[in-house]
Amino acid sequence: MDESSLISHEAYGPDIAGVLIPRHRIASRLDELAGRITETYPEGELTILAALTGSLIFLSDLIRRLPLRLRVDVVRVSSYPHQATASRESRVLIAPAGDLPGRHVLIIDDILDTGKTLELIRGLVLAAGAASARTCVLMSKRRDDLPARVAADFVGFDIEDQFVVGYGLDYGDLYRNLPDICLLRELAGGNGR
Ligand code: XMP
Repeated sequence: MDESSLISHEAYGPDIAGVLIPRHRIASRLDELAGRITETYPEGELTILAALTGSLIFLSDLIRRLPLRLRVDVVRVSSYPHQATASRESRVLIAPAGDLPGRHVLIIDDILDTGKTLELIRGLVLAAGAASARTCVLMSKRRDDLPARVAADFVGFDIEDQFVVGYGLDYGDLYRNLPDICLLRELAGGNGR
């Protein structure tokens, strides 16, 4: 049986069509990702730079699995204004506050779509003089129409090109609090692009 069907999405309201990735799969994948990230930084020091707001829950669950001397900073980039479901040009709204020169930086985001957001943040981090700038996303959308898209260094789940909510991801600022990654009823099977 598909594990997703064991979790009922009924309580999430009529707009949610179903669960795509249930919480227990997220948790076990985070264990694996955290192990790989820890091995990648044998010097034991890391600065996590999280892209707000969608990565908040991913960030909090991931960093508690990383036995490193860890600093956490945030950056806010706009890419999906209000209720848009297709990525727009990204702009920096809140720049990192911390000290990046000479640091090993791991940029965390919820989902890789066109890749513009991560490219923008990676450019900022390298321009600030970081020792290294890797990227980590919870999900990467399949975009066969963008063959030159830059891949993330660490990816939790590869998914189809569909709009997802929950576990930090929103639609019109709603649904971030759902513990599972879900599909919206009106967009299930497509992304509105
Ligand atoms: P780009 O195109 O720059 O977009 O890689 C990445 C950002 O777009 C948002 N995004 C989504 N947000 N459900 C969401 O809630 C989605 O399916 C989705 N796809 C992209 C997200 O903010 C991400 O940081």
